[in-house]
Amino acid sequence: MSPQPQAAVGAPLSRVDGRLKVTGQALYAAEHDVEGALHAVIVDSGIGRGRITSVDADAALAHPGVLRVISHRNAPELPYLDNPGSNNPQGRRLRVFQDDKVLFHGQPVAVVIATTLEAAQHGASLVKVGYDAKKPSTDMAKANPDEPTRYARGDAAAGLRDAAVRMDLDYRMARNHQNPMEPHATIARWKGDKLTVWDKTQWVVGTQTELSTVFDLPMKSVRVISPFVGGGFGSGLRCWPHTVVAALAAREMKRPVKVVLTRRQMYFGTGFRPSYGYRLRLGSDRRGRLTAMVHEMDAETSSYEKFEEAIMRAGQMFYSTPNVSQAYRKVPLDVNTPLYMRGPGFANASFAIESAMDELANRLGVDPIELRLRNEPPEDESNGLPWSTRKLRECYTVGAREFGWDRRNPKPRSTRDGDWLIGLGMAAAVYDPGRFPAQARVRLDADGTAVAEAATIDMGPGTYTSQTQVAADALGLTMRNVTFRLGDSLYPPTPPHGGSMTMTVVGSAVLDGCNKVRGQAIKLAVEDEQSPLYGVKAEDIVVRNGRLHVQDNPARGETYQRLLSRNRLTHLEAVGAYAGAPEPARHSYFSYGAVFTEVGVDATLGLVRVRRMLGVYDVGRIVSPKLADSQALGGMVGGIGQALLEHTVTDHRDGRIVNANLADYLVPVNADIPHLKAIYLEGEDPDADPLGVKGIGEVVQVGVAAAIANAVYNATGRRIRELPITAEALI
Ligand code: MOS
Repeated sequence: MSPQPQAAVGAPLSRVDGRLKVTGQALYAAEHDVEGALHAVIVDSGIGRGRITSVDADAALAHPGVLRVISHRNAPELPYLDNPGSNNPQGRRLRVFQDDKVLFHGQPVAVVIATTLEAAQHGASLVKVGYDAKKPSTDMAKANPDEPTRYARGDAAAGLRDAAVRMDLDYRMARNHQNPMEPHATIARWKGDKLTVWDKTQWVVGTQTELSTVFDLPMKSVRVISPFVGGGFGSGLRCWPHTVVAALAAREMKRPVKVVLTRRQMYFGTGFRPSYGYRLRLGSDRRGRLTAMVHEMDAETSSYEKFEEAIMRAGQMFYSTPNVSQAYRKVPLDVNTPLYMRGPGFANASFAIESAMDELANRLGVDPIELRLRNEPPEDESNGLPWSTRKLRECYTVGAREFGWDRRNPKPRSTRDGDWLIGLGMAAAVYDPGRFPAQARVRLDADGTAVAEAATIDMGPGTYTSQTQVAADALGLTMRNVTFRLGDSLYPPTPPHGGSMTMTVVGSAVLDGCNKVRGQAIKLAVEDEQSPLYGVKAEDIVVRNGRLHVQDNPARGETYQRLLSRNRLTHLEAVGAYAGAPEPARHSYFSYGAVFTEVGVDATLGLVRVRRMLGVYDVGRIVSPKLADSQALGGMVGGIGQALLEHTVTDHRDGRIVNANLADYLVPVNADIPHLKAIYLEGEDPDADPLGVKGIGEVVQVGVAAAIANAVYNATGRRIRELPITAEALI
């Protein structure tokens, strides 16, 4: 078949669902009107570790409207079968109301079900839970880590010993919470032994498998619906206990039940980016070429599950180093289990590695970009594979030129603007996008419109729009004549909406399905004696605006409508697939970027203000430039939060999160955000996937914190190795 003309892909279109969103017609999890739904409010543990000795529900049950209080004392036993292939980390997942153990502060210990939300809320405040409390262990510095996961190549000890320059650096990164705008919520409804949930999730198939294993139901007996998701940043990549509570309560009550987490409950109910300690030792020759890197990483996990993320990968592939050794230790604490948060693993690793490169550049008196260029690896040294595309040099060149890097004075504390010390900093970014199998169903109707559907999600990046763009071009239809549907487990399965993979894997499946349908139509035409295209070679035909025609002779052709109706066909249909990353891998495939920033630091007050930021990205083909910008700028905002503001604080006396709200947990607001700009390097990555896309959503947060820390150093001469960078650290 001829390559289709591209009209929608690459065009800066607005969201196809934008109008629904701004007019309130887009329904989020808690907003679905499920008839007869009761309200449930979770009672969470007031201790950080121990046992429940009593649950007194009398006062709650006496309150008008309260129908039931469920706790471990009266909850039915749940099967909780193993769920391999989910995002549940290795371990034994929290089993709601199955025993008297309290594993962390805020764990669900009971649920109050009532006819109104107000009655359920008040009822929850009346439940008296007695505890036998133990002192929880929540301080990583005072806890015992597990055996490390290790990686090594060469001889790092010898490499360090023989290095001309050695550095030994300790970085710390605070715990962060995803804080999506929409709270997590679930409405559960049973009909016989069939369960339907309306849920905030980044993975309907994941929630479906979790509920099917928790309740021991066939997959087809569980349906998960999630058409709109108001942000996730990773918090929806796993099915959480409150979803099980909703399903359990609905089954007990024989009525639908709605559970909405409060903002406070989301701090211990939906995971978080773990706190890290990252010791990095590096050695180099006099020219700054790395001879050895030793990475020792400590990260929080819970006492019951071993959460792991890709913290090691960057240290293995990013810079050319013959000798690398890594140890990644999980530190079990009395906390709920962490989960991925934007740029998972890489956003933390890059803070250490990219700060350290800046420190090395400063020590050697080499420009930080030049130092990076001297360590640019010709191939992936962790596996010997060639890069698919790696345009980092171009990211540096374009970024330096556009940002005015030559105006940077390498001498710290040399530039002032009134009370503000001005500094410029940069850092590189990398992310390893996922590539898992996905499917999509495509149907072209005889009226010349088409529907594509897949069980993916749109948590904000614009899946509805970008997938419609892919389908429209592949079918030769206008955007208006194509509808993309998502967020329902009845649609063909897709992997999690995360890990920068949706455009790649769902897009490739949609493309495949559309190509198949277009192929069917072309075949029908060339074999149909009544078609003007009869006898034409299939590969000479393209479709534009719903009309098939000979590529070099647009006059010869006919519309889908004519073709299908003459052949008495109501529709053509196909299931498209993306098979996942090629096995064995032929290329090493990553998204890249370079982040440049200018900060002002008020040396008296310790205030840091980001004054401008530029990201230059090598992420393959850009399907939807306007939405790519919203991803990139949003990622920078997230990075500014990680760098300067975000910090979940725990009171180690009882394991309570002190700042479990958006007044005390700081995230950037408009006044914190200066002019941000993103540039995407031209071109696609033909080895990455059929669409040539590498994925943008995660890499855009990576490197931001290091770029800011490096700029703060350039401004002040103070090297801050701990996130967030606070005023206290700078005065
Ligand atoms: Mo992203 S942390 O995989 O939602």
